[in-house]
Amino acid sequence: MAAVKLDDIRVEPLNTNHNFSEFYCTSDDLNDFIRNDALREQECMLSRTYLFSYEEEVVGFVSLSADSVGAPKLRREDVVRKKSSDRPAYSVLPCVLIGRLAVAKKYERQGIGKYILNWAIGLITNVVCKSVGCRYITVDPKTESLQFYTESGLGFTQMEAFKPGRPETRYYINLYKLLND
Ligand SMILES: CC(C)(COP(=O)(O)OP(=O)(O)OC[C@H]1O[C@@H](n2cnc3c(N)ncnc32)[C@H](O)[C@@H]1OP(=O)(O)O)[C@@H](O)C(=O)NCCC(=O)NCCS
Repeated sequence: MAAVKLDDIRVEPLNTNHNFSEFYCTSDDLNDFIRNDALREQECMLSRTYLFSYEEEVVGFVSLSADSVGAPKLRREDVVRKKSSDRPAYSVLPCVLIGRLAVAKKYERQGIGKYILNWAIGLITNVVCKSVGCRYITVDPKTESLQFYTESGLGFTQMEAFKPGRPETRYYINLYKLLND
C-alpha cells in the first residue's frame, strides 16, 4: 500500500450516510463506538464526531465534547489564581474533551493520528476558544496510546491524583499556555 498523502485527507462531520462496516482499528471499544454509538451521541448533543477520509475510505475519526475540570486536578502552575491572593479563583474550569480518537489499523504510523490531533486542536483554538470560554483540552488515553499524546510536543500533562498512590489516568493541555508562551 502506497503512503498516504496527508494533504489529500478530507474531513467531514459524521452523518447518517456513513458506513463503518469496513473500519477497523486496534481498539474494540472504539470500533464499537464508531459503529454503534457515535451517531446517537451526536444526535443527543453529547459529542460531535469528525471523519477523516483518504481516497474515499475512512482512515480515522475524532469526537469532541464540552467538559469541565476541577482545579485540584491541575498542576499548581496551570490553575487560574485570584488577583489578590494565591488561592484558586475557580473550583471548576471549562475544557474540551477529546473523547475518542482512532486511526484504522492498516493506516497506523503514517502521521494520520498526529494530523487528526492537530486538526482538533486547530478547531478548538480557532473556533471554540474564539466564541466560548475554554482553557484546557482533556483526554483519557489508553495505556497503549499514551506515548502518542505525551510525545506530541503539545504539552499534555498528567492530572494530579486525588488520592495518593492512585495516579490519574487523564491528561490535559493548558491552552492559555500553548497560545501565549
Ligand atoms: C494511537 C493512534 C491514534 C496513533 O495513530 P497513528 O496514526 O498511528 O499515529 P502517528 O503515526 O500520527 O504517530 C505519531 C507519533 O505518536 C507516537 N506513537 C503513535 N503510535 C504509537 C505506539 N503504538 N507506540 C508508541 N508511540 C506511538 C510516535 O511518537 C509517533 O511518531 P513516529 O511514528 O514518528 O515515531 C492509533 O494507533 C490508534 O487509533 N490506536 C487505537 C485507538 C487508540 O488507542 N486511540 C487513542 C485512544 S485515546
